[in-house]
Amino acid sequence: MKKNRICELLGIKYPIIQGAMAWISEGNLAGNVSKAGGLGIIAGGGMPPEILREEIKRAKSITSNPFGVNLMLMMEHVEKQIDVCIEEGVKVVTTGAGNPGIYMEKLKAAGIKVIPVVSSVALAKRMEKIGADAVVAEGMEAGGHIGEITTMALAPQIAKAVSIPVIVAGGIASGEQFLAALALGGEAIQVGTIFIPAVECIAHENYKNSIIKAKDRSTVATGNYTGHPVRVIHNKFAKELLDLEKQGAPIEKLEELGRGKLRLAVVEGEVNLGSVMAGQVAAMVNEVATCEEIVNKLMRELGEAKENLLARMNSWN
Ligand SMILES: Cc1cc2nc3c(=O)[nH]c(=O)nc-3n(C[C@H](O)[C@H](O)[C@H](O)COP(=O)(O)O)c2cc1C
Repeated sequence: MKKNRICELLGIKYPIIQGAMAWISEGNLAGNVSKAGGLGIIAGGGMPPEILREEIKRAKSITSNPFGVNLMLMMEHVEKQIDVCIEEGVKVVTTGAGNPGIYMEKLKAAGIKVIPVVSSVALAKRMEKIGADAVVAEGMEAGGHIGEITTMALAPQIAKAVSIPVIVAGGIASGEQFLAALALGGEAIQVGTIFIPAVECIAHENYKNSIIKAKDRSTVATGNYTGHPVRVIHNKFAKELLDLEKQGAPIEKLEELGRGKLRLAVVEGEVNLGSVMAGQVAAMVNEVATCEEIVNKLMRELGEAKENLLARMNSWN
């Protein structure tokens, strides 16, 4: 039997990747997801390089399994962050907010697998051309910064357009959705929201409770107007942003209002005035569990979903 290409490429047991979450996914969460057999990812975001090094060391102290680092390419420290990843022997880097082209040679020479997060077919093709090892196809159901296309429509188009493996992200929190992602041409999933209430996650209790309490229509995409949409839980902060967008407020004013608001929610627990980024599946995330329990549950449910689907399909043969 052929091995799953993502498990082989990344040296992991299960095709489950914990997507980077700025301020949320640090060394402890990433280390514990990797220890459970998935791939944990530390969000490099705006982290100063020496803090990133500490978080990498923290993940290493938890597991000898591989884990990754996410680089937001427009951030000022990115070159130094890359040096830290190389020095610390990080095996996988995912990238967002820019083109990793100029860093590709350096990362590859250090034996690092490079996996850009993309939200369009054109970008996926470009990433394959410049040597990406895989891509994350992320639909607009996801939490945080998003594109415009749903996972259902985007993933199969990307899977057909490239020959490198595709990791499907956005809107996955159950075995049925995991199975659907594989049916759409994915070889692995990337999930974020499902890990926010994890025992090992450092997000403030109020943030975790916002996810646990969320219902199907609790999230909203702000920032469509500025061209940088972000999916968050609909709260006072989101309402203020949306009202200003409707009034046609200057983009600088909207950007200023958003500054520091994710940290405010994650670290201080201010979930009314802060930015509570979360995906549409927040409604399906109802309990606090360990990383190991979350990974094992996804794998168990995937098996059950496959059996149920086969039974349903056989019923009309
Ligand atoms: C709070 C939050 C912060 C995020 N921050 C980042 C980030 O810094 N970099 C990144 O590439 N993706 C980021 N994402 C996207 C996740 O890595 C992942 O792709 C997404 O959560 C998957 O969709 P889901 O939320 O439906 O599981 C973030 C998502 C959330 C919920």
